[in-house]
This record gives sequence, C-alpha cells and structure tokens, in this order.
Amino acid sequence: MSKKVVLTGDRPTGKLHLGHYVGSLEKRVQMQDSGDYKMFVMIADEQALADNARNPKKVHDNLLEVALDYLAVGLDPTKTTMFVQSQIPALYELTFHYMGFINHGRLARIPTLKTDIKEKGFEKGLPMSWFTFPVSQCADITAFGAELVPVGEDQMPVIEINREIVRSFNATYGDVLVEPEGVVPEGIAKRLPGIYGMDDKMSKSLNNGIYLSDTPEEVASKVKEMYTDPGHIRVEDPGQVEGNVVFIYLDAFASDKAKVADLKKRYEAGGLGDMEVKNYLIEVLEELLVPIRARRSEYEKDLDKVRDILKQGTKHANQVANETLARVRTAMGLDYF
Ligand code: TRP
Repeated sequence: MSKKVVLTGDRPTGKLHLGHYVGSLEKRVQMQDSGDYKMFVMIADEQALADNARNPKKVHDNLLEVALDYLAVGLDPTKTTMFVQSQIPALYELTFHYMGFINHGRLARIPTLKTDIKEKGFEKGLPMSWFTFPVSQCADITAFGAELVPVGEDQMPVIEINREIVRSFNATYGDVLVEPEGVVPEGIAKRLPGIYGMDDKMSKSLNNGIYLSDTPEEVASKVKEMYTDPGHIRVEDPGQVEGNVVFIYLDAFASDKAKVADLKKRYEAGGLGDMEVKNYLIEVLEELLVPIRARRSEYEKDLDKVRDILKQGTKHANQVANETLARVRTAMGLDYF
C-alpha cells in the first residue's frame, strides 16, 4: 500500500501555543511516527506576508521560532519534510496557472473573509495577496500531491475551494492534480479556549495563550490567572466545572482521567479550592512541556543546524514540486519548444 501524502502548514507570525499543540502538532507527530504517511510540513511565510506585506520583520523573526517549535514537539527531519514556502518557486507559478479556474465571486464569498477584513484592519481595501491566498494554498497542496490536509474547522471552506480548482483544472486538462481532502480535529482539539474564558480561542492577537516555549514561571502565572467559576468564592462553595477553563485544560491534557473525574466531583460538591486544581494543571502541563522545552533549547544552541534542516527539507520539496509543475505545464500545452 502506498503511503498517503499529507501536507500541513503554519503561518510564521508567532510562536506556537497549546492550541496548536492539541489542534494539530500532536496529531502530526503521531502520523509521522505511525510510518503510514508521507508527511510535508510547510512554514507558510509567503501566506504570512499576504496579510503582512508591510510588516515583513514579523514574518522573518518567526520563521526559525516555528521551526524550533516543530523540532521541539518531535517532528523529525528524517521522517517529515519540513520546508519553507517562499523557497519553492514552482508554487508561485502554479498559483498563477490556477487563477483561471476560480472566479472572483467565489473567493469573495468565503465566510471567514468578513471577519478577516475586520480583524486585520482591511476595511479600506483587501490586499490582492490576501484575497487570492486560497489559490496559492491550492498550489501548496497540489504541488505535493497531498491527499490529506489537516486544518482547523474554519479553514474547511478554503479546502472546498481548493477541491473545486482541482476539479475544474482536471476537467480541462485531464487527470493531472490530486483532489485533497481536509481533515479536522475532533473534541476539545477543535478549539482550545484562551486562559481568560470560553468565548475566545487561544490566539496570539488576544494575548491569552500559553506557548510551547513559555518558561515554567510563565506557565504557572498564566494558569493562576485562568478563568474558573466566578461563583466559586470560598473553598466550601460548590463550583461549576462546565465552562471552567482549568477543567477544560485538564480534559485536554491530563492522562489520568480517573483523577480528573474525582477532582470534578469534589469541585462540584464544594470543598475543593481553585488553587489545588490549578496546581495539578501546572503539574500536568509541565509534564508535557519539560521534554518540549529541553529539545527546543538543544536546537536553540545550534541554529545553523535548524537552518540546515529547513534547507534540506526545502531541497526535497523543490524536487517534488518541480515534477508536478512539469506535468502541469505539459498538460497545459505550454511546452511549445
Ligand atoms: N492556512 C494555514 C494557516 O492559516 C497555513 C497554510 C498555508 C496551509 N498553506 C497551507 C495549511 C496548505 C495546510 C495546507 O495556518
């Protein structure tokens, strides 16, 4: 059985946090270690520039940070191809070839576009780079023949557009491109809330995140700030578990489910203080983060090695993408002489 090709990516606009971990990174490492997949993980710097055209420093500064986070969680360059989007020229050309297979109205109807415009301050006008990023994403995916694309649920409309582009390209030129399938996380992994409450997911812009690279002191102080049950004033008061961020995190990260169930029961009955639950959460998070931090700090001592890992990954990615591009050009009849 041939291995299924998987492609995922992250925009290097900040360090990765626990939301990325439960939503995606953990699964990637499992898929990698299963040996059942051919994995490509892309640092999407060009897509990050799509909404940061005038702020390239942010993108440059975070490129190695994201690479360090990848290596820290256990992505292994001998098993997973990690590469940098902007260093793959074929992607730019494929993007242009695909432009004719999607129309303006279809892109304008992406449901997340309205929120993007507000959040990114594009009310006066949407940069074309952002408007067309779904086309560029289609190039990312098809260049590697990816069959599975793990993404957040809110990204599914973009994957649907990617599928439409592939279908119309193939309808014109034959069976050239592989139609991708989006894979979304399940359960709590779908949407880890930030530390201040259930209304917002963990996100850089809201400053409510716990980062994989946070120090033990930072983790502890963020857990101490976490939203619990505002009605749980004295230790003896019965507390609410539902909507209580500390318990949501315990469900997401603690492996001792029996202990969590017991804590919930005691909390609801009254007599269990927030600090005790929080201290346990700190312990649970540290168990996860200690090895991640240790690997990160090893690689931080040797950034040349990290750059070399990306360079080697990018070299392999270029070979694969160039093969796809050659097939596309031939299929399109662009091989005049
Ligand atoms: N859109 C993804 C994000 O916001 C990043 C990305 C770019 C990506 N190209 C991709 C993800 C291709 C999956 C496949 O994080």
